[in-house]
Amino acid sequence: MSSEPLWSENLRKVYSSKGAPPVDALAGVSMSVHPGERVALLGRNGAGKTTFLRIASTLLRPTSGSIRVFGYDVAEHPERARPYIAVVPQEGKPFFHLAPREMIYTYLRARGLSRETSKTRTEEAIERMGLTEFANRLCITLSGGQRQRTMVATVIATEAPLLFLDEPTIGMDPFARREVWASLRALTAKGSTILLTTHYLDEAEALSHRLYIVERGRVIVSGTSDDLKRSVGGTLKVSLPEGARHVDSFQSFGSTVTDGSSLTIIVAPERLGELMDLTIRRQLTATVGPVTLEEAFLRVVGRKIDED
Ligand SMILES: Nc1ncnc2c1ncn2[C@@H]1O[C@H](COP(=O)(O)OP(=O)(O)O)[C@@H](O)[C@H]1O
Ligand SMILES: [Mg+2]
Repeated sequence: MSSEPLWSENLRKVYSSKGAPPVDALAGVSMSVHPGERVALLGRNGAGKTTFLRIASTLLRPTSGSIRVFGYDVAEHPERARPYIAVVPQEGKPFFHLAPREMIYTYLRARGLSRETSKTRTEEAIERMGLTEFANRLCITLSGGQRQRTMVATVIATEAPLLFLDEPTIGMDPFARREVWASLRALTAKGSTILLTTHYLDEAEALSHRLYIVERGRVIVSGTSDDLKRSVGGTLKVSLPEGARHVDSFQSFGSTVTDGSSLTIIVAPERLGELMDLTIRRQLTATVGPVTLEEAFLRVVGRKIDED
């Protein structure tokens, strides 16, 4: 209910600027995040994910609707909500004239943590997020991925009850991403709650208990990634690299998508034999694999997550 870590109902945001048509960035978003959950907001560019996170983290006022953090109305009482939250904003940068070690420590002190706790947490974060070798170098000298790791490490070190992370692993190498995942899992094990946005479907799948797919300012699907896969009607994906021109013959097996000359079909396991017979009769080659979250996303949204 409304004392959940995060709860919103029919949240809307219209951006209006002079001389430009208004933008309906959020067209009524209702959602909730339960204690200790890691929830992912998934969606293509411009879907409204950052707008939602900025409103939830008190940086932007909604046009209408309700949103509460631990029961506090974010728009009415931002000062009450703020102590509970910590945010990695999209494209946020650490202070360039501080080194990661100073950045993390200063941030924790500014949030009111004691010298001792701040020092311990800073060293833990440096160690855990692999920042040791550049912890004393000014952030301005760091690579994009190193800066991003510093931002995420800083926010994770707060151990705030509710964390918002907007595309936290963008620009990171696969090892750093996995360190972030491990740190976020450790944090929820200690009792924090996490809402993140991501463009990476493998990240959403690996990390989130539940996900919300947002498209044009609306939640179009919510549930676990398994729920989502089941909702597209089959658990197997058959790819026919030269199948596009035969699409009509395969439509009765399940949902189909063509891409250039290739065709993919989502099919229930019990119809696979019949589908393979047809493939052979048409002298096509096929590969069969499990439906991925990426496939499910494509079916539900109608386009790939990274397609403009
Ligand atoms: N300050 C702004 N003024 C006008 N339109 C904006 C502003 N910020 C975002 N938008 C628009 O709102 C929509 C949602 O943007 P955003 O929340 O950043 O999406 P996402 O994070 O999912 O990529 C987009 O159409 C974007 O162009
Ligand atoms: Mg965004």
